[in-house]
Amino acid sequence: MNHLGNHLLDIDHLSKDYIYDFFKETEKIKNTPESSKNFNHNKNICTLFYENSTRTKLSFQKACSNINAVFHNLDIQTSSVNKGETFYNTIKTINSIGMDLIIIRHYSSGAPYFLAKNTKSSVINAGDGAHAHPTQTLSDLFTIFENSKKFEDLEISIIGDVLYSRVARSNILGLLKMGSKINIIGPRELVPVDVINLYSSIEKSYKNKINYYEDYEKPILSSDFLMALRIQKERFDKNTDLNFDTYITNWKIDTKVLSNLDREDIFIMHPGPVNEEIELSHELVHSEKSLISKQVENGVYVRQKIMEKLLDEK
Ligand code: CP
Repeated sequence: MNHLGNHLLDIDHLSKDYIYDFFKETEKIKNTPESSKNFNHNKNICTLFYENSTRTKLSFQKACSNINAVFHNLDIQTSSVNKGETFYNTIKTINSIGMDLIIIRHYSSGAPYFLAKNTKSSVINAGDGAHAHPTQTLSDLFTIFENSKKFEDLEISIIGDVLYSRVARSNILGLLKMGSKINIIGPRELVPVDVINLYSSIEKSYKNKINYYEDYEKPILSSDFLMALRIQKERFDKNTDLNFDTYITNWKIDTKVLSNLDREDIFIMHPGPVNEEIELSHELVHSEKSLISKQVENGVYVRQKIMEKLLDEK
């Protein structure tokens, strides 16, 4: 697809060529910030976050200021949602006030799709339940693109809570689409049953590009990037009996793990926020090989470019 349309709800409708072009345009605004100076349509942009956020919300706010848009935040905690206002009536109220773009984060998978169906505004999904987080994926993939300039021939290991992670779902889809090889690593309790067939059913060529490993040694030896995921305690089913001490013993990555494998050169990524000393050691998070701060920084430019495109195409 060569345009975004009205909304960005997931990355499945974006083609590989579109994503490559998008990254070249994002690189341009990152390297020459003045190229966005003329983008001034006084558009009204509203965030509607039903879940907590630090980096996504703040980077959207910064990106709004970069494009001279007017930023509005509906603080759910102090809104009429707390008086029992339904989701549909909140949407209707925002429609009456009038917004060009609504950025939504919601604990229910599919909520951004419901919003998109019931508003004239453009919609960006800033994370819905365990389903999708397309702007995080574009930020993560852009960070890989900055480092490697390609995706084909790259091998990326994703370790941790794949089952409950919306970032994992969108990142796996995005990386497979771009031609990378994916290793999923983690306890069986945190990996979807039949994960290989799950993605192979989307596109046959993905079948040989994704593998599952319960141990990290083999996949880390051959990977270019190691992406750890946050353990999503808040989404755990009460019936899940995952033991955190077992997770730390078997899957926490620290400098000793990498040095034993002679892989101190591997790039470390994490969408944040990190549970330090559970998924990654504090030392590794803040090490030279960590791209975590770069992922956050790039989130501003990626989100800026998405908003420019959505508002331009309206
Ligand atoms: N990665 C991510 O979505 O972080 P926040 O929850 O802080 O926005």
